[in-house]
Amino acid sequence: MWTQFQLAASIVGVVTLSFWALKLVRTAYATFLRPSHDLYKRYKGEGEPWALVTGGSDGIGKAYAMELAKRGFNILNVSRTPAKLEAVKAEILATYPSIQVESVTLDMALASFDEIYDVVTQAMAGRDVAVVINNAGLAPHPQRLAAYEAVETLQARNAIAVNVVAFTAVLSAALPILSARKSRGGVVNVSSSSAYQGFAYNAVYASTKAYNHVMSQTLAAEERGKLDVISHTPLFVASNMTRLKANMFVATAEQTVVACLDSLGHDDITSGVLSHKVQNAIIAALPRNIFQQQTIKAMKATRRKVEKKLAAAKKE
Ligand SMILES: NC(=O)c1ccc[n+]([C@@H]2O[C@H](COP(=O)([O-])OP(=O)(O)OC[C@H]3O[C@@H](n4cnc5c(N)ncnc54)[C@H](OP(=O)(O)O)[C@@H]3O)[C@@H](O)[C@H]2O)c1
Repeated sequence: MWTQFQLAASIVGVVTLSFWALKLVRTAYATFLRPSHDLYKRYKGEGEPWALVTGGSDGIGKAYAMELAKRGFNILNVSRTPAKLEAVKAEILATYPSIQVESVTLDMALASFDEIYDVVTQAMAGRDVAVVINNAGLAPHPQRLAAYEAVETLQARNAIAVNVVAFTAVLSAALPILSARKSRGGVVNVSSSSAYQGFAYNAVYASTKAYNHVMSQTLAAEERGKLDVISHTPLFVASNMTRLKANMFVATAEQTVVACLDSLGHDDITSGVLSHKVQNAIIAALPRNIFQQQTIKAMKATRRKVEKKLAAAKKE
């Protein structure tokens, strides 16, 4: 005879297993079977559609610029370094000769909110911008906030300026224009997995990414039916920011971007590639203190490498 306790425990077990099984089936369907939207058809208005990409001169942003050009969008690329912007423009024009590319040089760490707002508004004028990729971002060197020195303090200031202030200025300028179009539009806010649970030795970075994530989900609700808004929350991606090489845990910029664009119009949040979805699910299931302890161990090692580099740079 089952006791009431055994019965209750079995019900909880069945419900929990069913929940995880459903989640798994949904993830597998979204990853392998669900057809992605033809974004060009979905967002095309009266003119040829443009995509505004911030930080499209390198890494994940460059991959967005290349992939959206491939999907038929003209590219309005806003970034910091003119030579890198020119190189991306040349690469797009050589690969997709029918695509137009316009580059706008802007240091978003130095410009004010109002300046960024004006630059974005002017750059969008006369172009049918249908997609915004709000990607530009940076991370201070890993360090405990309590041990910040001048270099990290300046980096943290710049990270907040770009990841939060510029991120919001771009949305404030672009969303009224996008929302007023007759056709649907798309917005990708590049956040990070660190938005979910924080990231030891990266307190400022993770907090800015949580801001990106919460903003994105709020806008997805506010603009539903008019705009597809998605929060892109990858784990590690091979780029200048991480200096990591791609492997089964670290995605290439191209892989995470294709996965996110394939989710646009279907989901409000995506970690991108399957490996990142699985890693994010495992992290969420782990006891928080175990995750934080492991992160601190890894980040201490990374910090030692940064210190060696800083010391070598001082000697030069
Ligand atoms: N890499 C990862 O593992 C990872 C994981 C999760 C989320 N993310 C997010 O993905 C986004 C892109 O990161 P990434 O890895 O591609 O980095 P990245 O390779 O360093 O590229 C950063 C891009 O942002 C631009 N940028 C940086 N500071 C700027 C400024 N002050 N003004 C204007 N543009 C500026 C850069 O322009 P310049 O080329 O001119 O410097 C570059 O185009 C960030 O928001 C980051 O938080 C990255």
